[in-house]
Amino acid sequence: MPRQGYPGGAAWSVDDIPYGGLVRTAVRDDAQLFYTLATASFVEITSDLYTRNLIEFFRGDAEVETWLARGWEPEELQHGAALRRYVETAWPDFDWVDGYRRFMAEFTQFCSVDQLAPTRTLEMAARCVVETGTASFYRMLSEISPEPVLRTLTARIRADEVRHYKHFYRYYLRYRALERPGRRAVLSTLWHRVGEVDAEDAFYAFKHVYLATHPGAAFERKDYVAFRTGFRRLAQRHFPYAMAVKMLLKPLGLSGPVGRVVLPAATAATRLLLLR
Ligand SMILES: [Fe+2]
Ligand SMILES: [Fe+2]
Repeated sequence: MPRQGYPGGAAWSVDDIPYGGLVRTAVRDDAQLFYTLATASFVEITSDLYTRNLIEFFRGDAEVETWLARGWEPEELQHGAALRRYVETAWPDFDWVDGYRRFMAEFTQFCSVDQLAPTRTLEMAARCVVETGTASFYRMLSEISPEPVLRTLTARIRADEVRHYKHFYRYYLRYRALERPGRRAVLSTLWHRVGEVDAEDAFYAFKHVYLATHPGAAFERKDYVAFRTGFRRLAQRHFPYAMAVKMLLKPLGLSGPVGRVVLPAATAATRLLLLR
């Protein structure tokens, strides 16, 4: 029987993905894909670190609190688990458990919990940007996937991210009607939010994926820059701009000149692998 998604649990489970049919020869030599998926798996599976203060921020709004705790967080964690299994199946030499342990040991020492926006409306708007970024990211991966199981998996994750966007957008409208922020406040929040993020989590995640595959090597920032440049090159050709515009600019009332400023921010979110 098809699952219903929240509140009846996630819309799909890791066991629904046919990992047994994975065509390893189609992906095993694609280093950029390996780094992208392994990094994404580390970041997604760490979502719970960020959920707590977001739930705290919306304390008293039972609908939002419940959805964040029972809908959103389990689905983000499942994205990490499903990507992990893909990576472990496609690249069995990679010791995911050990790499993740090293990543967490360093990351939890240095990570700062996300700065939240000054108001609930603005926080919801910022979440719409992040989910637009992730939905676009997985859509791009699905469309350019050289391998059928990956195409299925990333399409499932993309559908979740679009649904997350729809929740945050509905809550955004509800809070906007109460708080009535000006367009300038919305724009400046989105701009600063994305500008501030140096994607620390993606940086440390990549670092430990890299070190696991280059034992004994020294890791330098230029290795991360090279990875991001490779990803950016893909995004330039395949980023679903039309979808990002539809999800972000029109609904947030940011079309026209203001929108032209925000769109690069949303795409930057994707390019920096901002996956939460
Ligand atoms: Fe996700
Ligand atoms: Fe999401």
